[in-house]
Amino acid sequence: MSGAGRGDGRGRRRGRTATPRGRGLSVRVETAKRRSNSSTRWLRRQLNDPYVREAQERGYRSRAAFKLLQIDDKLGLLKPGARVVDLGAAPGGWSQVAVERCGPEGRVVGIDLAEIEPLAGAVFLEGDFLDETAPERLKQALGGPADLVLSDMAAAATGHAGTDHLRVMALAEAALAFAEEVLAPGGAFLAKVLQGGAERALLDRLKQDFAKVRHIKPPASRKDSAELYVAATGYRGARPGG
Ligand SMILES: C[S@@+](CC[C@H](N)C(=O)[O-])C[C@H]1O[C@@H](n2cnc3c(N)ncnc32)[C@H](O)[C@@H]1O
Repeated sequence: MSGAGRGDGRGRRRGRTATPRGRGLSVRVETAKRRSNSSTRWLRRQLNDPYVREAQERGYRSRAAFKLLQIDDKLGLLKPGARVVDLGAAPGGWSQVAVERCGPEGRVVGIDLAEIEPLAGAVFLEGDFLDETAPERLKQALGGPADLVLSDMAAAATGHAGTDHLRVMALAEAALAFAEEVLAPGGAFLAKVLQGGAERALLDRLKQDFAKVRHIKPPASRKDSAELYVAATGYRGARPGG
């Protein structure tokens, strides 16, 4: 899809529903000879997922766009004119939402391991956020302190819950370290985490750095997934010597 899709409509009014209308018909998927049971299950879920259909209709590149819409409807993180960093931005759904809600005065800079199709109003970098050159590249593209750092980064699932959990938490911690460098006082941080144990250190650090920290599971995040988002607002500013 080109960057000029319907989801790029800047300045879309907040309040347009971030929840898709229910649709009656469900699609059956037969197990084809060369398709595994797990890919048949995945395909059935995609075809019957109202968020997938709504994303296509509204020109969003991912169903994940609805997660950010729903979180932002609750917390009001995306403000007109804001500078936003989108970590793990591909294919660009969150960036579309950020561009729409921050408007022409805003600045959205995303990075991903994967190439991202250009999007009007956003700057995309290709590369590993964990690479030591990434923070500097992002700062240069941003051109000033950030108001919001988003991380929807997730490593490819291994199927081993403990390993997946530790990987996502490591990405969220790296995102927070970067946020501590680039956020303006009063700024906000939103990151994907997974329920299950190793969150304590991240939460302790967030509580020191931000006035308010909360967990949020938007309706678009699948109920059977351990995925959860942690949102921190009111950045207190870089600690001396930190
Ligand atoms: C769930 S997807 C993001 C979806 C996105 N929020 C959207 O709405 O289109 C997670 C992304 O994190 C990216 N990712 C994982 N590890 C990364 C890393 N170390 N550096 C950059 N991107 C990473 C993956 O390539 C993947 O595209």
